[in-house]
Amino acid sequence: MDTVQIFDTTLRDGEQSPGFSMNREETLRLAYQIVELGADVLEAGFPIASPGDLEATRAVAAEIKGCRVAALARAVQADVDAALKGLEPAAKPRLHLFLATSDLHLKYKLRATREEAFDRIVKMIRFGKARCEEVEFSAEDASRTDIDFLCQVVNGAAEAGATIINLPDTVGYSTPAEYAEMFRTVRARLGNHPEVVLSAHCHDDLGLAVANSLAAIEAGVRQIECTINGIGERAGNASLEELIVALHVRQNHYRVETHINLEKLYPASRLLSQITGIGVPPNKAVVGANAFAHEAGIHQDGILKNPLTYEIIVPEKVGVPARKLVLGKHSGRNAFRARLAELGYDTTDSELGECYRMAMSRADSGKEIRDRDLIDIIHRVRRQAPAPAAAGSGDATH
Ligand code: KIV
Ligand code: ZN
Repeated sequence: MDTVQIFDTTLRDGEQSPGFSMNREETLRLAYQIVELGADVLEAGFPIASPGDLEATRAVAAEIKGCRVAALARAVQADVDAALKGLEPAAKPRLHLFLATSDLHLKYKLRATREEAFDRIVKMIRFGKARCEEVEFSAEDASRTDIDFLCQVVNGAAEAGATIINLPDTVGYSTPAEYAEMFRTVRARLGNHPEVVLSAHCHDDLGLAVANSLAAIEAGVRQIECTINGIGERAGNASLEELIVALHVRQNHYRVETHINLEKLYPASRLLSQITGIGVPPNKAVVGANAFAHEAGIHQDGILKNPLTYEIIVPEKVGVPARKLVLGKHSGRNAFRARLAELGYDTTDSELGECYRMAMSRADSGKEIRDRDLIDIIHRVRRQAPAPAAAGSGDATH
């Protein structure tokens, strides 16, 4: 089975988004977590952006030995010099060069012709390749680039020495079918360069970043750039955890593997939230608080009989401590009985009936029934009930 390389850009594209700046110590804590997660490449920063970014990149490059460390640079001399400086202490460095290739960016942002852009790309890749063992080139706004020019750029980049060529959907505009088609065309028109790994980098402006990344894999892409919790510019990047779980759960469809350690997905998500103080929405796939929570009675009943009825992956597999049967107004008696038993109370049918009635009147006012509410209710029910004839409460621990 083919392996898809995971390029984690939480510390670069992710850190670039508002509210996600990290200091040196936080950057290193997260970098170690990314290594534990099993990412193949860790993008540490964009050293030309600020002295702090350069320093953080150098610190990560010096400390992290467990995976390849990348630093970003535009195809501009000063950027490349800064990135190479940041990568100096790295055991396995990768220089990540980029330049926009769409006519829109060339005309309004770079004020350059296609020929000028092409020459800059080739020149800076050659320069970088002479100084760094591995060079990646990204054609910024690739998904809106004229396909003939894009193929010309990809061939030029490969000839100049880039062995990873990334074609980003920079503004999250593409659809899965279009994005896959772009990669198929580029691969078909790439000369004899079996060494070149094509890479996808998707933004989530239309909520399609993960879908586009998966479509790219189906089209033969073997590196995906993504971030923990899907953080990144604007609406963010493809969410690493969603991508990995999709590849795992639907391995029968995608037929690829990664080096990611699934049990570390939730701890990594939590660490990022802890460091930045920004949580994930409760309904977020895989790592959201409700991702493994069940409230509806029919669902809870199914889960108690066999978790596969309503879960496509067990929570422990992705490092979530346990599924949650949320007790609320949609819950059924079986869920109440199970939770009470977990809390050490084996209930008779009449105790359960009374507990359920009292809990429902609380839940009807829109409140969740927490464990302490349930304990309070069962104690009230038992205080009201006539004392049993024989000694013993009939439950395990109370
Ligand atoms: O979104 C993008 O195009 C990027 C590149 C710099 C890789 O982040
Ligand atoms: Zn990006």
